[in-house]
Amino acid sequence: MKNIVILISGRGSNMEAMIAARDAGQLPVNIAAVIANRPDAKGLETAAAAGIATRCLDHKAFAGREAFDTALAACIDEFAPDLVVLAGFMRILTPDFVRHYEGRLLNIHPSLLPAFPGLHTHQRALDEGVRVHGCTVHFVTAELDHGPVVIQAAVPVLDDDTEDSLSARILKQEHRIYPQAVRWFAEGRLQLDGMKVRVQGEQAEPAALISPVLG
Ligand code: GRF
Repeated sequence: MKNIVILISGRGSNMEAMIAARDAGQLPVNIAAVIANRPDAKGLETAAAAGIATRCLDHKAFAGREAFDTALAACIDEFAPDLVVLAGFMRILTPDFVRHYEGRLLNIHPSLLPAFPGLHTHQRALDEGVRVHGCTVHFVTAELDHGPVVIQAAVPVLDDDTEDSLSARILKQEHRIYPQAVRWFAEGRLQLDGMKVRVQGEQAEPAALISPVLG
């Protein structure tokens, strides 16, 4: 079974969705550890309560980005992960860190990339008046919120949507597509071809188009 390490910064609801999928027998991975960069990350408690090893590396205790990322990689590698899963990990990563985990580092971003990289994606989508918004699981590259797309889910933007209502609708989809992407990885079904990800044995649509879910 593949080993995964999950990195969080806060609430950890995507991490919880993975724990739930694993417990339901839908995610055949060993969650070796959950690591946070903030001591107050709520998700650390959730992970510990689920019996998962937790670590906290407070980025404020490090002289700079390189020093933190070096220590973080050492902490991660103690658990010998096949895959590192960024789940609301609010840090810009150094190119060396990204290179070290090339092809085995996934992120979830709350927009239909390449639209709206960065922060405040839901408010920006509302401000731009887009009719469709969503979330993306992608392999991480050195460029922020960029990289080969594994799966996306789209939701309609409704006339009376607020940042909160839109983000809640999208979070539901995040909790659906992220465990799915990790499962594909764990099953050895993801093949990288430049910026394209091919899902082996997937009969329906290419992975990037698989889930335009309305509602
Ligand atoms: C999610 O919206 C994720 O897409 C973004 O940060 C948020 C994390 O939420 N990167 P949670 O900590 O998983 O609840």
